[in-house]
Amino acid sequence: TQARQTCMFQAPGPVSVPTLPLSQANPEMIHPDLSPTAFPTNSGWSLEEKPSRPNQKFYEMIEEFRETLEISPLSADDVAEPHRICVCIRKRPLNKQELNKKEIDVVSVPGKGVLMVHEPKQKVDLTKYLENQTFQFDYSFDETSTNDLVYKFTAKPLVQSIFEGSMATCFAYGQTGSGKTHTMGGDFTGKQQNSAKGIYALAAQDVFALLNHRRYANLDLSVYVSFFEIYNGKVYDLLNKKAKLRVLEDDRQQVQVVGLEEVYVSAAEDVIKMIQMGSACRTSGQTSANANSSRSHAILQIVLRRNDRATTLHGKFSLVDLAGNERGTDVSSNDRSTLVETAEINRSLLALKECIRSLGKNSDHIPFRMSTLTKVLRDSFIGDKSKTCMIAMVSPTMSSCEYTMNTLRYADRYLLESLDISVYDAISHVADLEEKVCVELKVHFVIIYIILPFF
Ligand SMILES: Nc1ncnc2c1ncn2[C@@H]1O[C@H](COP(=O)(O)OP(=O)(O)OP(=O)(O)O)[C@@H](O)[C@H]1O
Ligand SMILES: [Mg+2]
Repeated sequence: TQARQTCMFQAPGPVSVPTLPLSQANPEMIHPDLSPTAFPTNSGWSLEEKPSRPNQKFYEMIEEFRETLEISPLSADDVAEPHRICVCIRKRPLNKQELNKKEIDVVSVPGKGVLMVHEPKQKVDLTKYLENQTFQFDYSFDETSTNDLVYKFTAKPLVQSIFEGSMATCFAYGQTGSGKTHTMGGDFTGKQQNSAKGIYALAAQDVFALLNHRRYANLDLSVYVSFFEIYNGKVYDLLNKKAKLRVLEDDRQQVQVVGLEEVYVSAAEDVIKMIQMGSACRTSGQTSANANSSRSHAILQIVLRRNDRATTLHGKFSLVDLAGNERGTDVSSNDRSTLVETAEINRSLLALKECIRSLGKNSDHIPFRMSTLTKVLRDSFIGDKSKTCMIAMVSPTMSSCEYTMNTLRYADRYLLESLDISVYDAISHVADLEEKVCVELKVHFVIIYIILPFF
């Protein structure tokens, strides 16, 4: 297991890495009198000559700090270790707009699973300082990482596991514009998405490669695909004109999405076409950070079934592009539909975290009823054959710092594995209240429409 690490690098000079855990981290001081010439630059320009940018001082402090870091990025030649729960972090590069605005990059990925945030801070006496915080994950991907590299260490090991009977899940988590859809669905050129370059497509290609492998040929399996989205707690079939579907649970706690299309596929190209078609009808909107922002959770399921009469389920891989987590904290809007959307996203992301925690602790109680998302993924959280990978995405800019910290706290392995009773209680309480309201409504209905007419 990975231990959380808060002190990996010792920087010389005025900058030092805090040695305390995040909650008690000491800010680092840079003296306000420190002259700009105290920061030598690689380009050989004196700092007065350099084109200035907003937050120039913080930019220089971060650059100075980075020079002290030992960088050993993950490479395609490294070996992917098997994990039951794997938590990774991916930083996207600055985009064109951010580069034009000369925004500063406050995230560093030295490698070996480490990610650092250089949080710009200012004291009341206007002293500027950096709060450098270090987080440890199973893998950390820097801004130069390709989807292929991310795939190799995240979803690829899970593809093999479904041939061995696993229920596997891979989640993309993060704020709007941080790269979830880019990672799962493929990169964009304008509004056009290249679906062949995402983790969905890479997984589908490997499924067919393994299906024909002699090791698994005698299992006599077929591949089926379904693709749906969850928006405001309702399920919509992306392979069937966005038909609204019901989620039902039988008395053996088996959850069914009634009427969900599960399409037989015989080649990876079929899956890519479906992803393209399904992604085009996904609920989207525009946010300040993303012109093509997904407002729903999208779930692609690759299902292996035996070619017997009952087409028995053998293994299942659910690949989930989650809705932006900033909605969970954004309560500034008074618009009713935004509030409902926010509450629903918030609830489902907290529920997801609780279910992953329960999985990690081999708990008998999986709180899957807390949200539609966890209900439909119930299979993925039970039994010793369940495997999960969470890829948390972060944007690099200073303006995203708060959301980045929220993402890192959410995905923190240490927190994922220790039960936060207060959060759990809060969600259970909401669920109880909802149940009570529902019962009261039923009682009123009975009184008004059945009992009163007799008087
Ligand atoms: N690693 C990356 N390399 C290059 N471009 C990226 C990368 N990650 C994201 N982008 C670009 O950033 C933009 C936003 O990414 P994306 O749509 O994947 O965000 P998202 O996390 O899905 O946001 P939302 O929650 O709003 O749907 C896209 O134009 C995408 O191509
Ligand atoms: Mg998206």
